[in-house]
Amino acid sequence: MANSRTVGVLGLGYVGLPLACAAVGAGHRVIGYDPDEVRVASLCAGSSPVEDVEDRLLEKSLASGLLSFTGNAGDLTACDVFVICVPTPLHDKTPDLTMVDSAVDAVAAALHPGDLVVLESTTYPGTTEDRLAPRIAELSGLHAPRDYHLVFSPERIDPGNPDYGLQNTPRVVGGLGPAAGAAAAEFYSSFIDQVHVVSGPREAEMAKLLENTYRHVNIALVNEMAIFCDELGVDLWEAIGAASTKPFGFAAFTPGPGVGGHCIPVDPSYLSWRVRRLGYPFRFVELAGEVNDRMPSYVASRVADILNRDRLSVSGARILVLGVAYKRDLGDMRESPAPVLISRLESQGAIVRWHDPHIPAQPLRGTQAVPVEGALTPVELSGADLVIIHTDHAAYDVADVVRHSRRVFDTRNMTAEHRAAHVTRL
Ligand SMILES: NC(=O)c1ccc[n+]([C@@H]2O[C@H](COP(=O)([O-])OP(=O)(O)OC[C@H]3O[C@@H](n4cnc5c(N)ncnc54)[C@H](O)[C@@H]3O)[C@@H](O)[C@H]2O)c1
Repeated sequence: MANSRTVGVLGLGYVGLPLACAAVGAGHRVIGYDPDEVRVASLCAGSSPVEDVEDRLLEKSLASGLLSFTGNAGDLTACDVFVICVPTPLHDKTPDLTMVDSAVDAVAAALHPGDLVVLESTTYPGTTEDRLAPRIAELSGLHAPRDYHLVFSPERIDPGNPDYGLQNTPRVVGGLGPAAGAAAAEFYSSFIDQVHVVSGPREAEMAKLLENTYRHVNIALVNEMAIFCDELGVDLWEAIGAASTKPFGFAAFTPGPGVGGHCIPVDPSYLSWRVRRLGYPFRFVELAGEVNDRMPSYVASRVADILNRDRLSVSGARILVLGVAYKRDLGDMRESPAPVLISRLESQGAIVRWHDPHIPAQPLRGTQAVPVEGALTPVELSGADLVIIHTDHAAYDVADVVRHSRRVFDTRNMTAEHRAAHVTRL
Protein backbone atom coordinates (compact mmCIF):
# COMPACT_ATOMS: atom_id res chain seq x y z
CA MET A 1 0.00 0.00 0.00
CA ALA A 2 1.38 3.41 -1.04
CA ASN A 3 0.64 5.39 2.13
CA SER A 4 1.08 2.66 4.66
CA ARG A 5 2.05 4.03 8.08
CA THR A 6 3.32 2.62 11.33
CA VAL A 7 0.57 3.40 13.82
CA GLY A 8 0.89 3.39 17.59
CA VAL A 9 -2.47 2.88 19.28
CA LEU A 10 -2.31 3.84 22.96
CA GLY A 11 -5.09 2.18 24.96
CA LEU A 12 -6.51 -1.14 23.76
CA GLY A 13 -10.11 -1.05 24.94
CA TYR A 14 -13.49 -0.46 23.32
CA VAL A 15 -12.07 2.37 21.19
CA GLY A 16 -8.43 1.46 20.58
CA LEU A 17 -8.76 -2.23 19.70
CA PRO A 18 -11.33 -1.87 16.87
CA LEU A 19 -9.23 1.01 15.50
CA ALA A 20 -6.05 -1.11 15.61
CA CYS A 21 -7.76 -3.96 13.69
CA ALA A 22 -9.29 -1.56 11.12
CA ALA A 23 -5.93 0.11 10.48
CA VAL A 24 -4.32 -3.32 9.97
CA GLY A 25 -7.13 -4.17 7.54
CA ALA A 26 -6.11 -1.08 5.51
CA GLY A 27 -2.50 -2.27 5.32
CA HIS A 28 -0.97 -0.18 8.11
CA ARG A 29 1.47 -1.67 10.57
CA VAL A 30 0.06 -1.27 14.08
CA ILE A 31 1.77 -1.40 17.47
CA GLY A 32 -0.85 -1.48 20.21
CA TYR A 33 0.43 -0.24 23.56
CA ASP A 34 -1.33 -0.71 26.89
CA PRO A 35 0.21 -0.63 30.38
CA ASP A 36 -2.21 -3.37 31.46
CA GLU A 37 0.08 -6.40 31.09
CA VAL A 38 -2.75 -8.89 31.57
CA ARG A 39 -4.68 -7.29 28.71
CA VAL A 40 -1.58 -7.28 26.48
CA ALA A 41 -0.92 -10.96 27.20
CA SER A 42 -4.49 -11.97 26.39
CA LEU A 43 -4.50 -9.87 23.20
CA CYS A 44 -1.21 -11.49 22.11
CA ALA A 45 -2.93 -14.86 22.64
CA GLY A 46 -5.76 -13.78 20.31
CA SER A 47 -8.40 -13.23 23.01
CA SER A 48 -10.41 -10.03 22.61
CA PRO A 49 -11.83 -8.28 25.68
CA VAL A 50 -14.10 -6.15 23.45
CA GLU A 51 -17.43 -7.53 22.22
CA ASP A 52 -17.31 -5.61 18.93
CA VAL A 53 -13.99 -7.27 18.04
CA GLU A 54 -14.37 -11.00 17.59
CA ASP A 55 -11.45 -13.30 18.41
CA ARG A 56 -11.51 -14.36 14.75
CA LEU A 57 -10.78 -10.82 13.56
CA LEU A 58 -8.06 -10.39 16.16
CA GLU A 59 -6.42 -13.68 15.17
CA LYS A 60 -6.62 -12.72 11.49
CA SER A 61 -5.05 -9.33 12.21
CA LEU A 62 -2.26 -10.96 14.23
CA ALA A 63 -1.69 -13.58 11.51
CA SER A 64 -1.18 -10.79 8.94
CA GLY A 65 2.06 -9.94 10.74
CA LEU A 66 1.04 -6.27 10.75
CA LEU A 67 -0.28 -6.18 14.32
CA SER A 68 1.67 -6.46 17.55
CA PHE A 69 0.90 -5.61 21.17
CA THR A 70 3.25 -4.33 23.83
CA GLY A 71 3.29 -3.16 27.41
CA ASN A 72 6.50 -1.25 26.77
CA ALA A 73 5.99 2.36 25.65
CA GLY A 74 9.56 2.37 24.31
CA ASP A 75 8.38 0.19 21.39
CA LEU A 76 6.43 3.16 20.03
CA THR A 77 9.57 4.83 18.62
CA ALA A 78 9.01 2.97 15.34
CA CYS A 79 5.66 4.78 14.82
CA ASP A 80 4.86 7.80 12.66
CA VAL A 81 1.16 7.99 13.64
CA PHE A 82 0.02 7.96 17.28
CA VAL A 83 -3.61 7.56 18.29
CA ILE A 84 -4.49 8.04 21.97
CA CYS A 85 -7.56 6.06 23.09
CA VAL A 86 -7.22 6.03 26.89
CA PRO A 87 -9.98 6.49 29.50
CA THR A 88 -11.03 9.98 30.59
CA PRO A 89 -13.07 9.34 33.76
CA LEU A 90 -14.66 11.87 36.06
CA HIS A 91 -13.93 12.14 39.77
CA ASP A 92 -16.47 14.20 41.70
CA LYS A 93 -17.68 15.58 38.36
CA THR A 94 -14.14 16.79 37.60
CA PRO A 95 -12.28 15.47 34.54
CA ASP A 96 -9.38 13.16 35.33
CA LEU A 97 -6.86 13.45 32.50
CA THR A 98 -4.01 11.62 34.21
CA MET A 99 -4.17 8.71 31.75
CA VAL A 100 -4.18 11.12 28.81
CA ASP A 101 -1.15 12.87 30.32
CA SER A 102 0.82 9.66 30.70
CA ALA A 103 -0.10 8.54 27.16
CA VAL A 104 1.01 11.96 25.89
CA ASP A 105 4.33 11.53 27.72
CA ALA A 106 4.85 8.20 25.93
CA VAL A 107 4.06 9.83 22.58
CA ALA A 108 6.39 12.78 23.25
CA ALA A 109 9.25 10.38 23.93
CA ALA A 110 8.72 8.64 20.58
CA LEU A 111 7.78 11.63 18.40
CA HIS A 112 9.65 12.68 15.24
CA PRO A 113 9.15 15.76 13.05
CA GLY A 114 6.35 15.25 10.51
CA ASP A 115 4.48 12.64 12.63
CA LEU A 116 0.73 12.66 13.20
CA VAL A 117 -0.66 12.64 16.78
CA VAL A 118 -4.41 12.13 17.31
CA LEU A 119 -6.38 12.27 20.55
CA GLU A 120 -9.59 10.20 20.36
CA SER A 121 -10.49 10.17 24.07
CA THR A 122 -13.57 12.23 24.91
CA THR A 123 -12.69 15.49 26.63
CA TYR A 124 -13.63 19.16 27.06
CA PRO A 125 -13.02 21.74 24.29
CA GLY A 126 -9.48 23.08 24.47
CA THR A 127 -7.73 19.94 25.75
CA THR A 128 -5.77 19.21 22.57
CA GLU A 129 -4.54 22.73 22.02
CA ASP A 130 -4.12 23.91 25.60
CA ARG A 131 -2.96 20.73 27.34
CA LEU A 132 -1.48 18.33 24.80
CA ALA A 133 0.42 20.80 22.60
CA PRO A 134 2.37 22.51 25.44
CA ARG A 135 3.08 19.21 27.19
CA ILE A 136 4.46 17.63 24.01
CA ALA A 137 6.49 20.78 23.27
CA GLU A 138 8.01 20.75 26.74
CA LEU A 139 8.95 17.08 26.63
CA SER A 140 10.01 16.69 22.99
CA GLY A 141 10.96 20.19 21.88
CA LEU A 142 8.57 19.73 18.93
CA HIS A 143 5.87 22.34 18.35
CA ALA A 144 2.51 21.92 16.59
CA PRO A 145 1.66 22.86 13.90
CA ARG A 146 5.22 23.74 12.83
CA ASP A 147 6.97 20.42 13.52
CA TYR A 148 4.26 17.76 13.60
CA HIS A 149 0.50 17.32 13.11
CA LEU A 150 -1.73 17.46 16.21
CA VAL A 151 -5.40 16.50 15.85
CA PHE A 152 -8.53 15.71 17.83
CA SER A 153 -10.83 13.10 16.33
CA PRO A 154 -13.65 11.79 18.51
CA GLU A 155 -14.58 8.13 18.49
CA ARG A 156 -18.34 7.93 17.90
CA ILE A 157 -18.69 4.16 18.11
CA ASP A 158 -22.08 2.84 19.27
CA PRO A 159 -21.22 -0.47 20.93
CA GLY A 160 -23.35 -3.37 19.71
CA ASN A 161 -24.90 -1.40 16.82
CA PRO A 162 -25.34 -3.94 14.00
CA ASP A 163 -25.70 -1.27 11.28
CA TYR A 164 -23.04 1.31 12.08
CA GLY A 165 -19.46 0.43 12.91
CA LEU A 166 -16.11 2.10 12.59
CA GLN A 167 -16.01 2.02 8.80
CA ASN A 168 -19.41 3.51 7.97
CA THR A 169 -19.73 6.03 10.82
CA PRO A 170 -18.47 9.34 9.43
CA ARG A 171 -15.32 10.52 11.16
CA VAL A 172 -14.81 14.10 12.39
CA VAL A 173 -11.24 15.47 12.50
CA GLY A 174 -10.01 18.86 13.69
CA GLY A 175 -6.30 19.61 13.38
CA LEU A 176 -4.12 22.39 14.69
CA GLY A 177 -3.61 24.05 11.32
CA PRO A 178 -4.96 22.92 7.91
CA ALA A 179 -2.06 20.55 7.19
CA ALA A 180 -2.83 18.56 10.35
CA GLY A 181 -6.51 18.18 9.37
CA ALA A 182 -5.47 17.03 5.90
CA ALA A 183 -2.93 14.52 7.29
CA ALA A 184 -5.55 13.04 9.63
CA ALA A 185 -8.15 12.93 6.83
CA GLU A 186 -5.72 10.99 4.64
CA PHE A 187 -4.98 8.50 7.42
CA TYR A 188 -8.60 7.88 8.46
CA SER A 189 -9.85 7.73 4.85
CA SER A 190 -7.79 4.60 4.38
CA PHE A 191 -10.30 2.64 6.52
CA ILE A 192 -13.32 4.95 7.12
CA ASP A 193 -15.78 5.76 4.33
CA GLN A 194 -16.38 9.43 5.11
CA VAL A 195 -14.19 11.98 6.89
CA HIS A 196 -15.48 15.42 7.87
CA VAL A 197 -12.76 17.99 8.52
CA VAL A 198 -13.52 20.92 10.85
CA SER A 199 -11.37 24.00 11.31
CA GLY A 200 -9.69 23.03 14.58
CA PRO A 201 -9.53 20.59 17.52
CA ARG A 202 -11.95 22.66 19.63
CA GLU A 203 -14.77 22.20 17.12
CA ALA A 204 -14.11 18.45 16.95
CA GLU A 205 -14.02 18.19 20.76
CA MET A 206 -17.27 20.13 20.95
CA ALA A 207 -18.96 18.03 18.24
CA LYS A 208 -18.56 14.89 20.36
CA LEU A 209 -19.90 16.58 23.49
CA LEU A 210 -22.80 18.10 21.56
CA GLU A 211 -23.83 14.66 20.26
CA ASN A 212 -23.80 13.07 23.69
CA THR A 213 -25.31 16.04 25.51
CA TYR A 214 -28.13 16.03 22.95
CA ARG A 215 -28.81 12.37 23.77
CA HIS A 216 -28.53 12.90 27.52
CA VAL A 217 -30.95 15.85 27.51
CA ASN A 218 -33.50 14.15 25.25
CA ILE A 219 -33.46 10.96 27.30
CA ALA A 220 -34.09 13.11 30.39
CA LEU A 221 -36.99 14.78 28.59
CA VAL A 222 -38.78 11.47 27.94
CA ASN A 223 -37.87 10.14 31.37
CA GLU A 224 -39.55 13.12 33.00
CA MET A 225 -42.52 12.68 30.66
CA ALA A 226 -42.76 9.00 31.66
CA ILE A 227 -43.21 10.05 35.27
CA PHE A 228 -46.15 12.39 34.68
CA CYS A 229 -47.68 10.36 31.81
CA ASP A 230 -48.28 7.52 34.27
CA GLU A 231 -50.23 9.91 36.49
CA LEU A 232 -52.07 11.40 33.49
CA GLY A 233 -53.03 7.94 32.26
CA VAL A 234 -51.20 8.49 28.96
CA ASP A 235 -49.36 5.68 27.14
CA LEU A 236 -46.11 7.55 26.43
CA TRP A 237 -44.69 4.71 24.33
CA GLU A 238 -47.63 5.01 21.97
CA ALA A 239 -47.28 8.80 21.88
CA ILE A 240 -43.57 8.43 20.99
CA GLY A 241 -44.49 5.98 18.21
CA ALA A 242 -47.06 8.44 16.89
CA ALA A 243 -44.68 11.43 17.03
CA SER A 244 -42.07 9.33 15.20
CA THR A 245 -44.29 9.16 12.12
CA LYS A 246 -43.38 12.82 11.48
CA PRO A 247 -40.74 12.69 8.76
CA PHE A 248 -38.98 15.90 9.87
CA GLY A 249 -38.15 17.81 13.05
CA PHE A 250 -38.49 14.89 15.48
CA ALA A 251 -36.02 12.24 16.68
CA ALA A 252 -37.42 9.54 18.95
CA PHE A 253 -35.90 8.86 22.37
CA THR A 254 -37.30 6.35 24.84
CA PRO A 255 -37.51 6.37 28.63
CA GLY A 256 -35.84 3.74 30.78
CA PRO A 257 -34.60 2.85 34.26
CA GLY A 258 -31.71 5.34 34.03
CA VAL A 259 -28.79 6.02 31.73
CA GLY A 260 -25.63 3.96 31.60
CA GLY A 261 -22.54 3.24 29.58
CA HIS A 262 -19.24 4.95 29.31
CA CYS A 263 -20.44 8.03 27.46
CA ILE A 264 -23.93 9.40 28.06
CA PRO A 265 -23.80 9.76 31.87
CA VAL A 266 -20.18 11.01 31.77
CA ASP A 267 -19.47 13.16 28.72
CA PRO A 268 -21.94 16.01 29.36
CA SER A 269 -20.26 16.58 32.72
CA TYR A 270 -17.04 17.35 30.85
CA LEU A 271 -18.85 20.18 29.16
CA SER A 272 -20.62 21.44 32.28
CA TRP A 273 -17.30 21.35 34.18
CA ARG A 274 -15.73 23.53 31.49
CA VAL A 275 -18.72 25.90 31.39
CA ARG A 276 -18.69 26.24 35.20
CA ARG A 277 -15.15 27.57 34.95
CA LEU A 278 -16.59 30.44 32.95
CA GLY A 279 -18.53 31.33 36.07
CA TYR A 280 -22.00 30.01 35.36
CA PRO A 281 -23.74 26.62 35.20
CA PHE A 282 -24.77 24.67 32.09
CA ARG A 283 -28.34 24.30 33.35
CA PHE A 284 -29.61 21.87 30.70
CA VAL A 285 -26.96 19.29 31.53
CA GLU A 286 -27.37 19.66 35.27
CA LEU A 287 -31.15 19.29 35.06
CA ALA A 288 -30.87 16.30 32.71
CA GLY A 289 -28.40 14.65 35.08
CA GLU A 290 -30.80 15.18 37.98
CA VAL A 291 -33.76 13.66 36.09
CA ASN A 292 -31.82 10.68 34.74
CA ASP A 293 -30.14 9.94 38.09
CA ARG A 294 -33.57 9.83 39.76
CA MET A 295 -34.92 7.10 37.46
CA PRO A 296 -33.75 4.03 39.46
CA SER A 297 -35.52 5.43 42.55
CA TYR A 298 -38.59 6.17 40.48
CA VAL A 299 -38.64 2.60 39.15
CA ALA A 300 -38.32 1.32 42.73
CA SER A 301 -41.31 3.47 43.74
CA ARG A 302 -43.39 2.04 40.88
CA VAL A 303 -42.44 -1.47 42.01
CA ALA A 304 -43.73 -0.60 45.50
CA ASP A 305 -47.01 0.68 43.98
CA ILE A 306 -47.53 -2.52 41.98
CA LEU A 307 -46.96 -4.71 45.03
CA ASN A 308 -49.16 -2.45 47.13
CA ARG A 309 -52.07 -2.92 44.75
CA ASP A 310 -52.01 -6.61 45.73
CA ARG A 311 -51.55 -5.84 49.44
CA LEU A 312 -47.90 -6.82 49.30
CA SER A 313 -44.90 -4.83 50.43
CA VAL A 314 -41.40 -4.44 49.03
CA SER A 315 -40.14 -5.75 52.34
CA GLY A 316 -39.84 -9.50 51.95
CA ALA A 317 -40.86 -9.46 48.27
CA ARG A 318 -38.89 -11.73 45.93
CA ILE A 319 -37.90 -9.64 42.94
CA LEU A 320 -36.21 -10.91 39.79
CA VAL A 321 -34.37 -8.37 37.62
CA LEU A 322 -33.99 -9.32 33.95
CA GLY A 323 -30.93 -7.73 32.38
CA VAL A 324 -28.40 -5.72 34.35
CA ALA A 325 -26.24 -4.48 31.45
CA TYR A 326 -26.69 -0.81 30.61
CA LYS A 327 -27.73 -1.62 27.05
CA ARG A 328 -29.55 -4.22 25.00
CA ASP A 329 -27.51 -7.22 23.82
CA LEU A 330 -24.27 -6.07 25.45
CA GLY A 331 -22.39 -7.50 28.41
CA ASP A 332 -21.31 -4.05 29.60
CA MET A 333 -22.15 -2.99 33.15
CA ARG A 334 -20.39 0.38 33.10
CA GLU A 335 -22.55 3.01 34.83
CA SER A 336 -25.54 0.64 34.55
CA PRO A 337 -28.46 1.83 36.69
CA ALA A 338 -29.26 -1.78 37.68
CA PRO A 339 -27.10 -1.97 40.86
CA VAL A 340 -28.56 1.37 42.05
CA LEU A 341 -32.11 0.10 41.49
CA ILE A 342 -31.35 -3.21 43.20
CA SER A 343 -29.73 -1.65 46.23
CA ARG A 344 -32.68 0.72 46.53
CA LEU A 345 -35.08 -2.26 46.56
CA GLU A 346 -32.86 -4.15 48.99
CA SER A 347 -32.75 -1.19 51.35
CA GLN A 348 -36.53 -1.56 51.54
CA GLY A 349 -36.23 -5.26 52.38
CA ALA A 350 -36.64 -6.91 48.96
CA ILE A 351 -34.88 -10.18 48.20
CA VAL A 352 -33.45 -9.70 44.75
CA ARG A 353 -32.17 -12.14 42.15
CA TRP A 354 -30.88 -11.12 38.72
CA HIS A 355 -30.39 -12.74 35.36
CA ASP A 356 -28.45 -11.52 32.34
CA PRO A 357 -27.46 -13.78 29.43
CA HIS A 358 -24.53 -11.46 28.62
CA ILE A 359 -23.02 -11.05 32.10
CA PRO A 360 -21.30 -13.89 33.97
CA ALA A 361 -22.75 -14.72 37.40
CA GLN A 362 -20.94 -12.48 39.89
CA PRO A 363 -21.68 -10.28 42.89
CA LEU A 364 -23.08 -6.90 41.85
CA ARG A 365 -21.28 -4.03 43.54
CA GLY A 366 -23.21 -2.59 46.48
CA THR A 367 -25.90 -5.29 46.46
CA GLN A 368 -26.66 -8.67 48.00
CA ALA A 369 -28.49 -9.80 44.85
CA VAL A 370 -28.06 -13.42 43.82
CA PRO A 371 -27.24 -14.15 40.16
CA VAL A 372 -29.34 -16.71 38.32
CA GLU A 373 -27.02 -18.95 36.34
CA GLY A 374 -27.82 -20.45 32.95
CA ALA A 375 -31.07 -20.18 31.05
CA LEU A 376 -34.06 -18.37 32.48
CA THR A 377 -36.60 -21.00 33.51
CA PRO A 378 -40.37 -20.85 34.12
CA VAL A 379 -39.68 -21.91 37.72
CA GLU A 380 -37.38 -18.90 38.22
CA LEU A 381 -39.97 -16.54 36.74
CA SER A 382 -42.93 -17.91 38.67
CA GLY A 383 -40.93 -17.98 41.92
CA ALA A 384 -40.71 -14.18 41.95
CA ASP A 385 -43.42 -11.89 43.30
CA LEU A 386 -42.43 -9.41 40.65
CA VAL A 387 -40.17 -9.47 37.58
CA ILE A 388 -38.53 -6.23 36.41
CA ILE A 389 -37.47 -6.02 32.78
CA HIS A 390 -34.46 -3.75 33.18
CA THR A 391 -32.55 -4.46 29.93
CA ASP A 392 -34.37 -5.51 26.76
CA HIS A 393 -31.98 -8.22 25.57
CA ALA A 394 -33.19 -9.89 22.38
CA ALA A 395 -32.45 -13.25 24.02
CA TYR A 396 -35.47 -12.87 26.29
CA ASP A 397 -38.67 -14.53 25.11
CA VAL A 398 -41.16 -11.88 26.26
CA ALA A 399 -44.18 -14.10 25.73
CA ASP A 400 -42.60 -16.61 28.11
CA VAL A 401 -41.76 -13.94 30.66
CA VAL A 402 -45.35 -12.66 30.61
CA ARG A 403 -46.80 -16.19 30.69
CA HIS A 404 -44.83 -17.45 33.69
CA SER A 405 -44.46 -14.34 35.86
CA ARG A 406 -46.92 -13.28 38.53
CA ARG A 407 -46.28 -9.57 38.02
CA VAL A 408 -44.09 -7.79 35.47
CA PHE A 409 -42.78 -4.24 35.51
CA ASP A 410 -41.40 -3.47 32.06
CA THR A 411 -39.08 -0.45 31.87
CA ARG A 412 -38.32 -0.92 28.14
CA ASN A 413 -41.67 -1.49 26.42
CA MET A 414 -40.67 -5.04 25.54
CA THR A 415 -44.20 -6.19 26.36
CA ALA A 416 -45.95 -3.82 23.92
CA GLU A 417 -47.47 -6.78 22.09
CA HIS A 418 -48.14 -8.77 25.26
CA ARG A 419 -50.44 -6.60 27.32
CA ALA A 420 -52.02 -8.26 30.34
CA ALA A 421 -53.47 -7.21 33.68
CA HIS A 422 -50.36 -8.36 35.53
CA VAL A 423 -47.99 -6.41 33.24
CA THR A 424 -47.20 -2.74 33.95
CA ARG A 425 -45.02 -0.59 31.73
CA LEU A 426 -42.92 2.44 32.66
N1 LIG B 1 -16.54 2.86 24.93
C1 LIG B 1 -17.14 3.63 24.07
O1 LIG B 1 -18.16 3.25 23.52
C2 LIG B 1 -16.58 4.99 23.71
C3 LIG B 1 -17.15 5.65 22.60
C4 LIG B 1 -16.64 6.89 22.25
C5 LIG B 1 -15.60 7.47 22.98
N2 LIG B 1 -15.08 6.81 24.06
C6 LIG B 1 -13.98 7.46 24.76
O2 LIG B 1 -12.77 6.83 24.37
C7 LIG B 1 -11.83 6.79 25.45
C8 LIG B 1 -11.41 5.35 25.72
O3 LIG B 1 -12.55 4.61 26.13
P1 LIG B 1 -12.63 3.03 26.08
O4 LIG B 1 -14.05 2.70 26.24
O5 LIG B 1 -11.89 2.48 24.92
O6 LIG B 1 -11.80 2.67 27.42
P2 LIG B 1 -11.39 1.20 27.92
O7 LIG B 1 -11.37 1.28 29.40
O8 LIG B 1 -12.18 0.16 27.23
O9 LIG B 1 -9.88 1.05 27.40
C9 LIG B 1 -8.89 1.95 27.67
C10 LIG B 1 -7.54 1.24 27.73
O10 LIG B 1 -6.54 2.25 27.92
C11 LIG B 1 -5.53 1.69 28.73
N3 LIG B 1 -4.66 2.73 29.29
C12 LIG B 1 -4.77 3.38 30.48
N4 LIG B 1 -3.75 4.27 30.59
C13 LIG B 1 -3.02 4.18 29.47
C14 LIG B 1 -1.85 4.84 29.00
N5 LIG B 1 -1.24 5.78 29.72
N6 LIG B 1 -1.33 4.49 27.80
C15 LIG B 1 -1.94 3.55 27.04
N7 LIG B 1 -3.05 2.89 27.44
C16 LIG B 1 -3.59 3.20 28.64
C17 LIG B 1 -6.29 0.88 29.76
O11 LIG B 1 -5.45 -0.10 30.36
C18 LIG B 1 -7.40 0.26 28.88
O12 LIG B 1 -7.01 -1.01 28.38
C19 LIG B 1 -12.55 7.47 26.62
O13 LIG B 1 -12.22 8.83 26.61
C20 LIG B 1 -14.01 7.32 26.26
O14 LIG B 1 -14.79 8.32 26.85
C21 LIG B 1 -15.54 5.58 24.41
